[in-house]
Amino acid sequence: MKRVAILISGGGSNMLELVRDMVGDHPARPVLVASNDPAAGGLVKAAALGIPTAAVDHRPFGKGRQAFEAALLAEVEAARPDILCLAGFMRILTPGFIQRFEGRMLNIHPSLLPKYPGLHTHARALAAGDTEAGCTVHEVTADLDAGPILGQARVPVLPGDTEATLAARVLTAEHRLYPATLRRFAAGDRSPLFL
Ligand code: GAR
Repeated sequence: MKRVAILISGGGSNMLELVRDMVGDHPARPVLVASNDPAAGGLVKAAALGIPTAAVDHRPFGKGRQAFEAALLAEVEAARPDILCLAGFMRILTPGFIQRFEGRMLNIHPSLLPKYPGLHTHARALAAGDTEAGCTVHEVTADLDAGPILGQARVPVLPGDTEATLAARVLTAEHRLYPATLRRFAAGDRSPLFL
């Protein structure tokens, strides 16, 4: 059984979908949900499900990214995860941290990578007049949002879409894609899944 730690920064809806899926014959189980924001709504939801949680507030560390990451790493390592899932984790990690989990760290990103790495993906898709949007699960490497693609789900962009309506449609696709991709990854299958 693979041990999965999940890093979040917000509501944690993707985290919840991952956790809900890790039952029965799933090859993995959640061992930790950790956040850089002690007020992240997902922490309470994870705790209610009986999953150990940790919060390492990045703010007291100021610009000290390494010190923040050392504190976060201590929490994560204590849970002895085999796989680390970023699920709406909004801090950029340094190559040093990423190296510790090379080949076993996943992220979900709300665009059809390689299109729109970084922030404001939905606004950029709308501004470009795209007729299709979606989300991507990829392996995390030192290059931001550029690691090997493990899964991708597409949704239409509809007439009259706003950033909010498009984000909501993409999020429902994320909820289908991330659990399905983690399930395959935990079973040792790294071939990309297209939904
Ligand atoms: C999701 O849409 C995820 O793709 C995005 O944040 C949201 C988190 O929602 N992640 C990024 O933008 C990463 N750069 P959630 O907390 O409800 O899962």
